[in-house]
Amino acid sequence: MHILLMGPPGAGKGTQAAELVKAFAIPHISTGDMFRAAIKEGTALGREAKGYMDQGKLVPDSVTIGIVRERLAKDDCKKGFILDGFPRTVEQADALDGILKELGLKLTRVLNINVPAADLIERATGRRICKQCGATYHVKFNPPKKEGICDACGGELFQRADDTAETMKNRLSVYEASTKPLIDYYEKAGIYTEVDGRQAIDKVTADLISTLKG
Ligand code: AP5
Ligand code: ZN
Repeated sequence: MHILLMGPPGAGKGTQAAELVKAFAIPHISTGDMFRAAIKEGTALGREAKGYMDQGKLVPDSVTIGIVRERLAKDDCKKGFILDGFPRTVEQADALDGILKELGLKLTRVLNINVPAADLIERATGRRICKQCGATYHVKFNPPKKEGICDACGGELFQRADDTAETMKNRLSVYEASTKPLIDYYEKAGIYTEVDGRQAIDKVTADLISTLKG
């Protein structure tokens, strides 16, 4: 099952991808996570990506498409994947079509988690992530049992550098201008389904799974 998970910043892609990994046992491939790992490791890729990410701008295609090509060519992607955060532009979608063709793979479904812009700033600014295991929480919508501490592993929670109200405004305008046109792109391809992302986390998961199983 080769799935593309779309949605504006803070819509719940990472949260839902974690559930889909449990349900379908396929890898979660997030370009945002790949860039954040590179920043943490201090690689050349990380140094290049950081400036763009901190401003809420897109990392250039010359960098992004290459890392996705490399990741999708790995053996574990043959049986499926959940691609999250890529493509973000029509150019990236065209590149993805080419990569999948080369690999003899095809997208099964494109799922868009739809959340109105008004809710997204609150979702992003309230997000907290575990330093140790990467689990995602929200101070209001999905709080940990003990403030600042991960339920799953006891790790310390932190806030992402780009989760400020200011940077979110840029991320949302980049989404509107560059990523939203992909809805039309995948609707035309006949593989697009929209899910109501305003519902509780478990309801969104149930909708995504029933779409994929149905
Ligand atoms: P990326 O990491 O992809 O960020 P994003 O698209 O902005 O998405 P987020 O990770 O912020 O949100 P999410 O949808 O995963 O939401 P989450 O589940 O955490 O990209 C970051 C940056 O990297 C980009 O700005 C860009 O610079 C660069 N980049 C990445 N890919 C690129 C590409 N292809 N090309 C160029 N540049 C690229 O949920 C958010 C919060 O809401 C959490 O606190 C969660 O607990 C809560 N929540 C989730 N679901 C619900 C619900 N149903 N109800 C209430 N709260 C909920
Ligand atoms: Zn943890």
